[in-house]
Amino acid sequence: MIITHDVVIVGSGAAGLYAAYWSSTKADVAVISKLFPTRSHTGAAQGGIGAALGNEEEDHPLWHWYDTVKGGDYLGDQDAQKILTYDAPQTIIELEHLGVPFSRTKEGKIAQRPFGGHTRNFGERPVRRACYAAARTGHAILHGLYEQCVKQNVNFYSEFQVLDLIMAEDNKKVLGVVALDILSGEVHTVNAKVVVFATGGAGRNYAITSNCQANTGDALGIFLKNGLPLEDLEFVQFHPTGLAGLGILVTEGARGEGGYLTNSNGERFMERYAPTVKDLAPRDMISQCMYKEVLEGRGIAKTGRICAEDYVYLHLEHISKAELMKKLEEIVDFATTYLGIKPWEQPIPVMPTCHYYMGGIPTDSDGRVRRSHADGDIVEGLYAAGECACVSVHGANRLGTNSLLDLVVFGRRVGLHVAKNVDSIKAGKLPDEADKKTKDRIAAVKASTGKERAGQLRKELSEIMMTHVAIRRTQAGMEQARREVQALRARYVNIGVDDKGAVFNTDLTEALEAGFMIDYSLALIEGAVTRYESRGAHLRMDGKDANGNEDGLPRDDANWLKHTFAYLKDDSATTGGAKVALAYRSVYLIHEHPEDGWSPELREKMKPKVRKY
Ligand code: FUM
Repeated sequence: MIITHDVVIVGSGAAGLYAAYWSSTKADVAVISKLFPTRSHTGAAQGGIGAALGNEEEDHPLWHWYDTVKGGDYLGDQDAQKILTYDAPQTIIELEHLGVPFSRTKEGKIAQRPFGGHTRNFGERPVRRACYAAARTGHAILHGLYEQCVKQNVNFYSEFQVLDLIMAEDNKKVLGVVALDILSGEVHTVNAKVVVFATGGAGRNYAITSNCQANTGDALGIFLKNGLPLEDLEFVQFHPTGLAGLGILVTEGARGEGGYLTNSNGERFMERYAPTVKDLAPRDMISQCMYKEVLEGRGIAKTGRICAEDYVYLHLEHISKAELMKKLEEIVDFATTYLGIKPWEQPIPVMPTCHYYMGGIPTDSDGRVRRSHADGDIVEGLYAAGECACVSVHGANRLGTNSLLDLVVFGRRVGLHVAKNVDSIKAGKLPDEADKKTKDRIAAVKASTGKERAGQLRKELSEIMMTHVAIRRTQAGMEQARREVQALRARYVNIGVDDKGAVFNTDLTEALEAGFMIDYSLALIEGAVTRYESRGAHLRMDGKDANGNEDGLPRDDANWLKHTFAYLKDDSATTGGAKVALAYRSVYLIHEHPEDGWSPELREKMKPKVRKY
């Protein structure tokens, strides 16, 4: 069947729904999603969404901008980061008016709590910037936006899995997507003038992750297979406080409400590493420090190894049960359900968990997809927003609360841009049998007598990534990961499924997802192994730092202050071979662009510096 709409949005988290909400003011819009919309992973976002609201004495978008620049270890595009932080207050107010039930202060204002790396007045002290709805902020936003989209008569195709892009003119224009209706097993061609990808995260390729089962990065794999680049994929965020051994998220809001970490000596070790902000340092630093504590034998189990049995403690016992239930009910629930711990009485065992991709599909600040690393090379009609996209506002490390903010600011901007421009975009002509490649692929997987199975390949992939391409990386480890993932890709040629049926064949969809995961993991590894420096979440343990100690390579602004663009080449279906080609694009730093009107004081402030907290 051929389904036609003006605008097709792939993904139904906050970015996709906000894009749908605004574009539906001018166009016929459909949202295609492999989950029912309110099950999207946005619903798992807990602690808050950043915005400098209200009193300018207490907080200001300028300070939010500065914190985001510094938090990202200077790899973010500073013009885009300004948009993120200055659009924030009006976007939060719009969400409030759309019905999102934020928690309130006694005065009836939107309640805000401190979060990692967010400070008043350029690092003076932590500031209350995270607007929250208890510890279910994403859930509140997701439901609010879904209701608004229903009201606007947006069409929903739920449990449809997009498997390919339809492109024209040497990838200069998008024509639509190919999607599998998971319920019936039918494959459909979806034709549109505008396609927006808002498919969320990709963290299921790591063994310990806070990401839901659906976060298999299908869009990343689809873009690579279609010759489109991915940006800065080597920067993967590990959130410091996953439940030990499980990776289930304990919100940073817990530390925002006064929680703190200790090692086996009972020491608040973050006081040593980040004396000003302590347990509210950015996530890259805290996760790296936690690993160091455990490796140096100061984990609670004193193993000196990164293993399921060792961890540090997160303390909330000094907060009353009533207060915890009011502000962090979900955390109490997770700790009791999964670890049998009452957090008002006992500390919670925690270790870092793969949480977020800073990189993704490269876009400009209206969400238009870049066809290559060259300036102004944009794909007509193709947009991306949210975690699958890279604007780039997070640089090498995202600050907590800036993810929900990225979803709504750039989802909204995409929707507004589409509403303004959709009439001027001409519908292209679909090629004959646009869905043939996908149908053939599905038929081949079902007919395969190959013995490889998605479950095993995915398990091995996630263990390789967790061992060699996670928080502490080395040349040898990453090269080993590259060899091992290439070997998985060769084995993937022999993928087969046991379920040959049409209806809700998750055996098939998991097999197809495994192919995407292997490809974007290769792109990630190549970017990481080539980037010879430490920056943000990319910590290379290959050598001594600037002070001569063994804590890793230093940041190298002279050679590496640039964005990685990864392209997949030689996508051979028979041998399983693939090469990743890398290119680079410069970072937009305001001190290098006085011609754009940035003041001398501001340019000086935002110049890359040693990152201390
Ligand atoms: O800790 C958290 O609540 C997560 C927030 C985020 O990733 O922004």
